[in-house]
Amino acid sequence: MSSTAHVETHLDVVEKLLSNGFNHLQVNKNYIFPPNERPHMEEVSHSYRIPVIDLKDLDGPARKSVVNEIKRACDEDGFFQIVNHGVPETVMKSMMDIAREFFEMPLEDRACLCSEDTRQLVRLSTSFNITKDKILNWMDVLTQHCHPLEEFIHIWPQKPAAYREIAGKYAKEIRVLTLRLFAAISEAMEKDSDYLNTIFKKHRQVMNINYYPPCPNPDLTLGIAPHSDPGGITVLMQGLVSGLQVLKDGKWVAVEPTPNALVVNLGDQLQVLSNGRFQSIEHRAITNSTTARIAIPTFYGPSLDAFISPAESMVDEEHPALYRGYTYGEYMEAFRSQGLERKSIVDRFKIQIGQ
Ligand code: OGA
Ligand code: NI
Repeated sequence: MSSTAHVETHLDVVEKLLSNGFNHLQVNKNYIFPPNERPHMEEVSHSYRIPVIDLKDLDGPARKSVVNEIKRACDEDGFFQIVNHGVPETVMKSMMDIAREFFEMPLEDRACLCSEDTRQLVRLSTSFNITKDKILNWMDVLTQHCHPLEEFIHIWPQKPAAYREIAGKYAKEIRVLTLRLFAAISEAMEKDSDYLNTIFKKHRQVMNINYYPPCPNPDLTLGIAPHSDPGGITVLMQGLVSGLQVLKDGKWVAVEPTPNALVVNLGDQLQVLSNGRFQSIEHRAITNSTTARIAIPTFYGPSLDAFISPAESMVDEEHPALYRGYTYGEYMEAFRSQGLERKSIVDRFKIQIGQ
């Protein structure tokens, strides 16, 4: 009985995959957002650019000034791009190429990875959470846990043949970069360099490959609906096709691809640890009618047993603690119980004034 149910849900996902080898000539009604939630491209701001930070001097004598730049970006934007970040261009390019190859393989080579169970450590699905999303996002997504790599790499996709080797190299490089960013952000919070590394216990690194096929009606749909990321920080390789937008002062701003740069944004846990000083900013991705877009975010943050609460360096009489402490496992339970909704889960952990 249960194995039948499993096969059915698996087939349900396979049936809904957008990367099914066909061009989409029209959009099914399940993907059409109500008018006030549509992209409204005419309202998107092109006058603001998120900061670009050069990490060349991060590990040299000018470290303090790079840390200050990162601190300003965390304070004011919650989103920034980084260049000279140390991840080799060849590793980035091979990752992007193998990701495309994966989504361009015949469906039967990918179908076995399909699942709608968000707890699976490796899975292929569509939209954000197809069991919860009221309107579907125009995106297929491969999710895989990456740390410690030797615990997971053997369950990653077996095809294309070079997938594990190439994606494994990329995951390792992103981890090294992320640990450097953690040290810098810890210093920006007036803590020891090791603060985030320690607080996050055994760590949790999850890489997604988001695949947005060309969409016949980009005005009616969203690649990924507005949300904030739940974890510590996200490092995104977005390729050369634009689509990512972030909310800045109530307006959507496009993050134009910069060759070889990576996009960094802070997740909800850094908002809590910084006691609301750093923001986990809402973002979304739009679709386009001509070119498939691939974006590869790595979500890096605490393991489920890590205890998260505002850092004491960020709390004083003037800035009382805004959030109660909790384990990341508790947070993820709340996150999984809903689809992509505008209101961040982080508000559920706020301390009510007057209590
Ligand atoms: C995400 C995300 C943006 C993009 O997967 O959480 O925000 O450009 N992706 O794909
Ligand atoms: Ni996101």
